[in-house]
Amino acid sequence: MSTPAIAAPRGTRDYLAEDGSSLLSCVDTHRRVSSRFGYRPVITPIFESTELFERGTGTGTDVVEKEMYTFRDRGDRSLALRPEGTPGVIRALAGDPAVRDIRPYRAQYDGPMFRYDRPQKGRYREFHQVGVEVLGVRDPNIDVEVIQVAWETCSALGITHVDIRLNSLGSRDDRLRYRDELLAYYTPLRDELCEDCRRRLATNPLRLLDCKTDARHVAAAPVLLDGLAQETRTYFHDVQEGLRAEGIPFTVDPRIVRGLDYYCDTTFEFWHSSLNGAQNALGGGGRYDGLAEVLGLPQTPGVGYALGVERLMVIRQETGAFHPEQPPTVLVVALDSGSAPYARACARQLRDAAVPTALDLAQGKLDRKFRWCDRMGTVWCIMCGEDEVRTGQVTLRNLQDRTQERLHIDDCIARLCSNTGGVK
Ligand code: HAM
Repeated sequence: MSTPAIAAPRGTRDYLAEDGSSLLSCVDTHRRVSSRFGYRPVITPIFESTELFERGTGTGTDVVEKEMYTFRDRGDRSLALRPEGTPGVIRALAGDPAVRDIRPYRAQYDGPMFRYDRPQKGRYREFHQVGVEVLGVRDPNIDVEVIQVAWETCSALGITHVDIRLNSLGSRDDRLRYRDELLAYYTPLRDELCEDCRRRLATNPLRLLDCKTDARHVAAAPVLLDGLAQETRTYFHDVQEGLRAEGIPFTVDPRIVRGLDYYCDTTFEFWHSSLNGAQNALGGGGRYDGLAEVLGLPQTPGVGYALGVERLMVIRQETGAFHPEQPPTVLVVALDSGSAPYARACARQLRDAAVPTALDLAQGKLDRKFRWCDRMGTVWCIMCGEDEVRTGQVTLRNLQDRTQERLHIDDCIARLCSNTGGVK
């Protein structure tokens, strides 16, 4: 009996070829756009102590309560694969005295996150985020800037028609007042609520507003925005003015309460019609002025966002915004072992001229090498044999029209560059 193959764990995926370049192009674009705004990289561990998320993300949230991958290491420490980037980034930055002297401090990050979610299109147990966090200031202009970086990342990825939903969760006092209002509204409805909502009523009443099952109760629930104190109201007004000044469209949506505990004031989500139902947020974020203190660090206001890379990939795929990278433009082959050094030198020259070049020095049938080109979508094959070495030339074959000619490598490079419209 043959040994059974081992599949990738449920909710994870492999990223081959075009998927791999699609993922990397989202990450590269986010790095490029955010660094243009002065954001510096921060790279934190993929696992952290479980307590970081219990305190930061919040024990009452679905993410911590139901979705975290926790384990004990050999030293009996409780660790968790990070379900999100923010608590680790704040631990690293707000805990660093050098960073605390730079206000604002702008950071950008990307990498894998882990949530024990129900897998479906655009929702995985291992997924990737790109994000930013700005620490040290409470300034509506910074909230605007953060939204702008996310917005410009989407547009640099060719993603249009992003629907930005904006809300304010107000100050701690605003939320405490609102919590009482929600309890007064929901408690008499307790028996009509779904199981999750009954639990939320006790643990995290704000999350009641996230419920899709009890949507009709959500629609009639009191609205936090209506009861904000004057200072919070002004702050929120300034954020909206700033977005208008930058020409970034948005809708105020009082239901954007977000699933994580640390938010205050500005919160937002980026939605897109290519994503369905519950998965239609391609990103989200907001302000979290109390988070550093909850983590036992000096009080440090902050704001940030994360975009889900797999969701960006879905949108780009469905809207035709992703153009896969080209396979190697050319395959260089040595026709005999004596020609290998010459073939190597030709490949080096082509790569120096930025022509994507694969090199095949194995002795084998030429037909097979041509077939490899066909399958890869590689149009050109450069052949180097005894004659080519002697005359200092190469044979350039076009595998589409099956023509070939002898020419000097410099002319060959010029030809390939003009044929590909200049190799980028
Ligand atoms: P979040 O809303 O939990 O926020 O996640 C941000 C984005 O990650 C979501 O909008 C979605 O695109 C993507 N995402 C979440 N879960 C999954 C999943 N299971 N599969 C695929 N994609 C997923 C945060 O994580 C906050 N840390 C954002 C933030 C930064 N707030 C302030 N700073």
